Amino acid sequence: MQLPATRIEVMKFIGQKIDSVFYEFLKPIEDLWQPSDFLPDSANENFLSDVKLLQEAARELPYDYIAVLVGDTITEEALPTYESWLMTVEGVNQQDPQQGWTKWIRAWTAEENRHGDLLNKYLYLSGRVNMRAMEVSTQYLIADGFDIETGTDPYRNFVYTSFQELATNISHRRTATLAKQYGNTLLSKMCGVIAADEMRHAKAYKAFVERIFEVDSSEMMLAFEDMMRKKIVMPAHFLRETGVKIGETFSHYSDAAQRIGVYTTYDYIEIMDSLLKEWKIDKVSGLNEAGEKARDYLMALPTRLKRVAERTKVPNLDYNFSWISAY
Ligand SMILES: [Fe+2]
Ligand SMILES: [Fe+2]
Repeated sequence: MQLPATRIEVMKFIGQKIDSVFYEFLKPIEDLWQPSDFLPDSANENFLSDVKLLQEAARELPYDYIAVLVGDTITEEALPTYESWLMTVEGVNQQDPQQGWTKWIRAWTAEENRHGDLLNKYLYLSGRVNMRAMEVSTQYLIADGFDIETGTDPYRNFVYTSFQELATNISHRRTATLAKQYGNTLLSKMCGVIAADEMRHAKAYKAFVERIFEVDSSEMMLAFEDMMRKKIVMPAHFLRETGVKIGETFSHYSDAAQRIGVYTTYDYIEIMDSLLKEWKIDKVSGLNEAGEKARDYLMALPTRLKRVAERTKVPNLDYNFSWISAY
């Protein structure tokens, strides 16, 4: 993809002011929660009885819920894919560790790394999961990478990350709410704190796009349109298990998420709608003809997607994930 030269200048311009984003949307490491704040302490003499309590509570979690939690965990664990991809974005220079963008990506990765770590340890202790099968899926997913069709374009990338952080905020928030309904306060808290991180990250990425709209509106509009035409695929869309074709496990995971209402087609539309409002798409000025057309497409999209969603049925298929232990 040939990108206009102005992309680099815009990235440089925003990159210079990125420090304010740091203070606004990231937290100092020492003030942040760590996975061990929520999990039984193996150096404590009560460790085994604490694990027993954790396992008793985990027994109440329904099959689809566990499947979704495993899928969420694997998605978070594929963080190496996401960091290495962000480092290739036009305008990001990994060779310059002092560059604002490099610092941002590293700090974001460092925060995100806690998500998979916490969920993985919880699942390991829960007694509900075939850890080996889950670990094989994680290794496959990292090895397979992803294809999110952003290229190295920062504009497309920031549309993607804005969307994705909002999607993960919704799904972790819902698993938190459901855990509470199943009487699992600990798990509810864990998913809740992860969801809160995702929201801070979403705000940062949305702020980047907002700034780009201020300086390069037509190109930003075209990038937004292009990403929505292609549809935002989930970062784990290549998810598989041993003996299962690439991407097929992802469909089953995504169906389970729809069935229990953790992440649905309507959430996708809602995110789209919220981004239109957030970036005040209807009021963006100074657009060229192509930019105006892109805006028309975007403004009409939620209604169109709603019509499609009404016709789509979620399969009620019984699928046995290799990740879940029979007990
Ligand atoms: Fe995350
Ligand atoms: Fe995230």
